Amino acid sequence: MVKHLTNLPPGDPHMNVLVLVGSLREGSTNRALADAAVAHLPEGATATVFDRGAELPHYSEDLDLEGHLPEVAVELREAVAAADGLIVVTPEYNGTLSSVVKNTIDWASRPRETAAISGTPAVVMAASGSPYAAQWARQDAVRCLQVAGAAVVEDTFGVGSSFEAFADGRLVDAEADAALRALVARLAPVPAA
Ligand SMILES: Cc1cc2nc3c(=O)[nH]c(=O)nc-3n(C[C@H](O)[C@H](O)[C@H](O)COP(=O)(O)O)c2cc1C
Repeated sequence: MVKHLTNLPPGDPHMNVLVLVGSLREGSTNRALADAAVAHLPEGATATVFDRGAELPHYSEDLDLEGHLPEVAVELREAVAAADGLIVVTPEYNGTLSSVVKNTIDWASRPRETAAISGTPAVVMAASGSPYAAQWARQDAVRCLQVAGAAVVEDTFGVGSSFEAFADGRLVDAEADAALRALVARLAPVPAA
């Protein structure tokens, strides 16, 4: 079941977006990208960065026990369940997505029948110090989110040479910023029928 997903421009000012950021680094360019993406949400939208990704234990079914879940996993699942959409921002490490984001998606994808992430619209973006703009990380993040059951947009947004790409919380390149805005717009919810 898809919660909300449309190609219409953003219209609902009450949308609630959860942001997953895969770099834990102080001064992260992926965090800068997340901020630049959030700046394109419609006025009145709520965006929350889930900043406890590093506290989540590595996913294990032995820990995923109803009534005995790690508190941080409960918080994550509640945050995903409350979200109208996800913005997933990941660096590329050794040719794939960040393990922090992967682990967060794994926790949000269970229990399978009632998974908080199921049907949740999602967009994927990445910043990389290399000119290739983390293409593999983005591809893998899309596939991972698809398998997890999210309603992920297949188009992604990548920033290459990311250490020179941001100023004052925005992308320096206006064309790139327009592409980012267009991708964020695809998270727009429509009222439930
Ligand atoms: C272990 C490691 C592996 C990396 N592998 C890749 C890679 O495969 N592709 C790539 O574009 N950048 C790679 N990088 C560079 C990252 O893009 C860069 O260090 C950084 O994480 C950019 O994101 P940040 O500014 O948000 O931390 C790697 C960096 C590290 C530390």
